[in-house]
Amino acid sequence: MKLIVTGGAGFIGSAFVRMLVSTGRHRVVNLDKLTYAGNLDNLEPIAGNPNYRFVRGDIVDAELINTLIEDESPDAIIHFAAESHVDRSILSPAASFETNLRGTFTLLEAVRNRKVPRYVHVSTDEVYGSLEEPFEADESYPLKPSSPYSASKAGSDLLALSYFTTFKSPVLVTRASNNYGPYQFPEKLIPLMISNALEDKNLPIYGDGMQVRDWLYVDDHCRAILAVLEKGRVGEVYNVGGSRSLPNREVVQMILKATGKPASLMTTVTDRPGHDRRYALTSEKLEKETGWSAQVPFEEGLQSTVDWYRRNRDWVARVKSGEYQDFYKLNYTR
Ligand code: NAD
Ligand code: DAU
Repeated sequence: MKLIVTGGAGFIGSAFVRMLVSTGRHRVVNLDKLTYAGNLDNLEPIAGNPNYRFVRGDIVDAELINTLIEDESPDAIIHFAAESHVDRSILSPAASFETNLRGTFTLLEAVRNRKVPRYVHVSTDEVYGSLEEPFEADESYPLKPSSPYSASKAGSDLLALSYFTTFKSPVLVTRASNNYGPYQFPEKLIPLMISNALEDKNLPIYGDGMQVRDWLYVDDHCRAILAVLEKGRVGEVYNVGGSRSLPNREVVQMILKATGKPASLMTTVTDRPGHDRRYALTSEKLEKETGWSAQVPFEEGLQSTVDWYRRNRDWVARVKSGEYQDFYKLNYTR
């Protein structure tokens, strides 16, 4: 298959590109703007591969998208590119609107006009909002996003589905839970806590730390996207859940144990505004229709993630320099 992947220099997109290019069965063109979250170092293992091409560009640029589709005649577009961090969307919401909504609109127009055979839209379980125990969202659960990030993802996810209903565009949507693994930008809970712990810095827990997330190892997510690309039905939504629901405090305690650092590093900081208490979803539909299931147990995935951050301190030091310091100061003195 010939694929255009957007956002392939980010955390999940780069894992997907590395996975597909290394099998030798796919040609992948990676379109990425290289925002603060995009990093070509993440693609170093496959950079010289003849089945891989990188194009730097913005998904809101319709001319660029159309030219790329004409040049490459892709069998599918897999759309990862997004402003993906909730806290940044609270500090400055404009970029979420621009990339997540306008960027998705631009891609959908190109898919419609250039008749791209398949379009996989990578969405999130955050579109369902916070769920009380014991509920779990299936794909028909109402959407109730809480942050500018999740509202922009819900809008783009519904826009994608509207292109199927109205124009018969071959759209498929995935909604995954919280990912973790190597190369994740250290603004998200797990890489932030691991990298701070390894540097003997404080581990900032929002509020009481009893918010629950369902953790999905990034390679399991990539396998799910591939399963949807190959076996999913157009016009359908597929949830992708992880192997483990845990309160944040427990995740941080496990990180302290894995890094051998003391509990005294844990600090409570001002809570995130509009903080969702609990995410929970079922991926039964994906499992039944494609045979996919999450393979990596949380303890195992967390240990290999800690090991990766231990071995890649240079990568961490590079991404934590410059702009990151300003963001950190602003976010944690809220
Ligand atoms: P990330 O922030 O690590 O990477 C985003 C990538 O998109 C970066 O490479 C960035 O340069 C690129 N990008 C941003 N704006 C762009 C634009 N206008 N044009 C072109 N490229 C642009 O994000 P991630 O965590 O890898 O998430 C990828 C996708 O998966 C997102 O759509 C996100 O909503 C979704 N998702 C993430 C998670 C998670 O836990 N991280 C869970 C479910 C769904
Ligand atoms: O659920 C899927 C979503 O997961 C994705 O759509 C998003 O792109 C991704 O960022 C993630 O969103 P969350 O807001 O759940 O992830 P984050 O890692 O930012 O936070 C996880 C939990 O940890 C959340 O309850 C907030 C808390 N937290 C986070 C940070 C960064 C802290 O307590 N302290 C922190 O410093």
